[in-house]
Amino acid sequence: MIPDGERSNLFQMTSPASTEQRAFRDFEQNGWKNAAGGYHDHFASLTSQSLRSLLDAATVRQGVRLLDVCTGPGYGAAVAAERGARATGMDFSPPMIAQASRRYPRARFLVGDAEAMPFHTESFDAVVTNFGLLHLARPEQFLREARRVLRPGGLVAFAVWAPPEDAVGFGMVLHAIQAHGNPVVPLPPGPPFFRFSDSSECMRTFRSAGFADAQVQRVAQLWRLKDPDGVFQAMIAGTVRTGGLLRAQSPLALAAIRDAMRGAVERHRREDWFEIPMPAVLASAVKP
Ligand SMILES: C[S@@+](CC[C@H](N)C(=O)[O-])C[C@H]1O[C@@H](n2cnc3c(N)ncnc32)[C@H](O)[C@@H]1O
Repeated sequence: MIPDGERSNLFQMTSPASTEQRAFRDFEQNGWKNAAGGYHDHFASLTSQSLRSLLDAATVRQGVRLLDVCTGPGYGAAVAAERGARATGMDFSPPMIAQASRRYPRARFLVGDAEAMPFHTESFDAVVTNFGLLHLARPEQFLREARRVLRPGGLVAFAVWAPPEDAVGFGMVLHAIQAHGNPVVPLPPGPPFFRFSDSSECMRTFRSAGFADAQVQRVAQLWRLKDPDGVFQAMIAGTVRTGGLLRAQSPLALAAIRDAMRGAVERHRREDWFEIPMPAVLASAVKP
């Protein structure tokens, strides 16, 4: 745990979360309690595709002290442990951490918040988050915390979804809601979902958080699905914000959205399965 002195320094640098930010954080935390099982069933084979590049960008190898933030079911920490890293996975959802500990006993897992990490200053060589940043109420606060827990010369790296024109599964659901449902249902407002899909925004945010040598790349990923309803099912059972948007639709609208998404998936048929492009944007930087 952080000694009191370090904690108070940390909080002096940081403005407290607003009521809106706290509401968004609570919405995410409650949502991930319910989505933990669905997430693994629908997303494991997809989000794991970026891990090799993500861990390479953070030079994770034998002996590296690696922190995987928003670890979810533990994929990033697990792959790092396979490389011989001293891997820790952290997530604020107890069901996610229970699942991760059960699946991957070679890594250490604990419950903790990306915006107030329960670790000493300079205790890691690398901090990564795979599809975590876009769920945070205060991504800049995560970067401040990553900078604090990294040693000088340590690396931070994150992967997020490419914009919905390219990450086609997201394009499908957003278009279907726009065409057949209500895109402005009342949900706690959060930061723009695709903010870090833009490489210049990644560079700018790293710079203002005090990181150097920022680099951004694309990682090609393909979502292979057996069922033409697979994208709809994944979004409703395994996500929080997009799932919340779907769950808030009327039954009639939801049925039309589902049909539209099924039709869109059918256009990506390969023999008896479907292949949906879901590229990631991967950004990394160094703590000077
Ligand atoms: C989309 S999942 C990513 C899971 C995993 N990293 C992967 O590669 O598939 C997002 C995860 O972020 C976690 N999360 C969201 N906000 C968080 C926060 N403030 N602190 C810690 N974890 C958080 C959620 O509980 C969820 O497990």
